[in-house]
Amino acid sequence: QVLAMLDHPHVLRLYGAVDDDENVCIVTELVPGGSLFDLIHTKPLLRPAVIVIGGGVCKGMTYLHSMGVIHRDLKPGNLLMAAVQSPAGPQLVVKVADFGLARVQDSTRTMTGGIGTSQYTAPEVLRSERYDSKVDVYSFGIILWEIHAKRLPYSDMNQMQIAVAVATQNHRPPPPPNCPAPFWQLMQSCWNSRPAERPSFPEVPPPPRSSHGTRFLLPPPPSSPATFHPLLCFLDLFPASF
Ligand SMILES: Nc1ncnc2c1ncn2[C@@H]1O[C@H](COP(=O)(O)OP(=O)(O)OP(=O)(O)O)[C@@H](O)[C@H]1O
Ligand SMILES: [Mg+2]
Repeated sequence: QVLAMLDHPHVLRLYGAVDDDENVCIVTELVPGGSLFDLIHTKPLLRPAVIVIGGGVCKGMTYLHSMGVIHRDLKPGNLLMAAVQSPAGPQLVVKVADFGLARVQDSTRTMTGGIGTSQYTAPEVLRSERYDSKVDVYSFGIILWEIHAKRLPYSDMNQMQIAVAVATQNHRPPPPPNCPAPFWQLMQSCWNSRPAERPSFPEVPPPPRSSHGTRFLLPPPPSSPATFHPLLCFLDLFPASF
């Protein structure tokens, strides 16, 4: 029901569903390029790809949040990759997928706690406290770390150790090697222990076309400060060789 409401180029499309009382089957768009998890851990990621992926996730998540939907299981395995043809040639497109744990935001009650995958799960969820859409911003910060570090967060800890350390000791990943300072600061702001101090996914303006013909998501120009947002800044933070 959540998926059926959604229609956005960076959100996996639902085609149909069958519910026969015993099983629920859903039919979705096929996104044949594997997941971001596969991409991070098997291939080098060049800066243009990182820009397209990060911008696509921002746009998809902005849309979901504008529809009152909290994903609650945002992680590289649930970000699917596709190449689409355009006049400028093939373009990498990321689609936010797997809403098995999502539900429409309901401000009147505390949502179910203890869900998701511990690495990407915000501390307030791990503590079964009331939470809001900022849990997805937390997950996005961890994903940015994984993209840059190219390894699993907390790879030396099991799920229980991660949950306890994150929820009770404010434990977070260390700075990735050679990580630009502004980029590291952005990750830290996304996984701030106080949800209200995390940035929000922005309302994203239409991406301009670069001189190379690839559609890049860029921060708005100075003439439109009202639409500027810190989550877009990371797009300019990656060194060219990343
Ligand atoms: N619509 C899709 N098109 C193409 N591949 C998909 C699609 N949905 C899922 N996959 C791929 O299928 C695999 C299984 O996905 P699934 O969501 O069932 O499990 P998961 O993401 O590994 O774990 P979790 O249940 O925690 O989300 C993943 O590798 C994912 O990339
Ligand atoms: Mg999944």
